[in-house]
Amino acid sequence: MAIYAFWNNKGGVGKSYLTFQIASEYARIHPDRKVLIVDLCPQANASGMLLGGMSTGEAALDSLSSRTPRQTISGYIEDRITSPYVNPYTGANFVINVSEYNSYSPENLSLVCGDEQLEVQASRVRGATVPGRTDAWRIVHTWITDLIEDVQNSWDQENTTVFIDCNPSFSIYTELAMSASDRLIIPFSADGSSKRAVRAVLALLYGITRVPGSLQSEFYTNSLQFRLPIPKIYCYIGNRLTQYIKSAKAFRSVVNEIGNEIWAVWKTNPNVFHIHPAGAASPVGRSAFIDMFQFEIVDANTASVVSSSLGIPINRLQAGLYPVVGRSVMVNQSQLDNQQPNIKELVAAIE
Ligand SMILES: Nc1ncnc2c1ncn2[C@@H]1O[C@H](COP(=O)(O)OP(=O)(O)OP(=O)(O)O)[C@@H](O)[C@H]1O
Ligand SMILES: [Mg+2]
Repeated sequence: MAIYAFWNNKGGVGKSYLTFQIASEYARIHPDRKVLIVDLCPQANASGMLLGGMSTGEAALDSLSSRTPRQTISGYIEDRITSPYVNPYTGANFVINVSEYNSYSPENLSLVCGDEQLEVQASRVRGATVPGRTDAWRIVHTWITDLIEDVQNSWDQENTTVFIDCNPSFSIYTELAMSASDRLIIPFSADGSSKRAVRAVLALLYGITRVPGSLQSEFYTNSLQFRLPIPKIYCYIGNRLTQYIKSAKAFRSVVNEIGNEIWAVWKTNPNVFHIHPAGAASPVGRSAFIDMFQFEIVDANTASVVSSSLGIPINRLQAGLYPVVGRSVMVNQSQLDNQQPNIKELVAAIE
């Protein structure tokens, strides 16, 4: 079972959009597998898109979070706050089948919804990591692993792939997502502050700091101390590549600069990367490294607005006019021709 987390320590880079597109496409091309999305972001943007977008998806989220217990990630977290160190094995109660809410979704796609209440629960989750018992931190950091195992056991199926959408902040629920996942996908946008955000990811997760003697994150030191796994970098994605030649060049230079930064990490810490596909040789040289780890996704313009507002995965979207909050929005074939093969190529690289 592979567990992918989409995370960057920066907002608005496409974590939720790519979770929606990639998980939907992955489920579509692997009808024999069960695909689970865990939305560990209080904004629940990926859940909103998956459940049908701006109006339908939001209404579904409201209804799921008004059940008792809430049929969302917060319902599960509440169970764990009540029983922090003894697994209640209730994870499967909080899963929904996405196709029951959104007819555009493949039937093998399931979801544990995000919930704004996560934010309110965070301080109690953090509180549960504090000893009391010496391994409190470790046990709390396996809550999401337990949740995924519960779901997997309820399905009784080996072939499961999990995608976790994260909040940009390195909050306690992001830490739980990191401890539960084994592969990290880092989307970034090509602007000036992206390099700093990627450096923050490297420092917070892997203790790779640029200034010797810098303070290490508690997550890093405790993960080592308690021998909890830290996800390995699966790929980094320059998202929203624009088609205009001049800005495309500027975009590429930012992507390449971040690529250089990550390539430097590869040379000193290849153990923090996940070699793929399975059985592939370790890349030798920069261009082989880029072929394995670097991806670009174009900006889909209004096609992405329609796709996310109506919850129609981009690879099921067709050219035409669509109603989006009372207005007609046009999706051109050229926008689809740009992003559809792009998403397919990325998903083909995801095992
Ligand atoms: N490739 C793309 N083409 C067009 N629009 C995109 C693309 N990727 C993301 N977007 C849009 O960019 C905006 C930000 O994306 P998204 O919400 O996925 O970012 P995020 O990293 O999840 O943000 P947050 O940190 O707030 O959770 C959204 O409106 C999304 O639809
Ligand atoms: Mg998001």
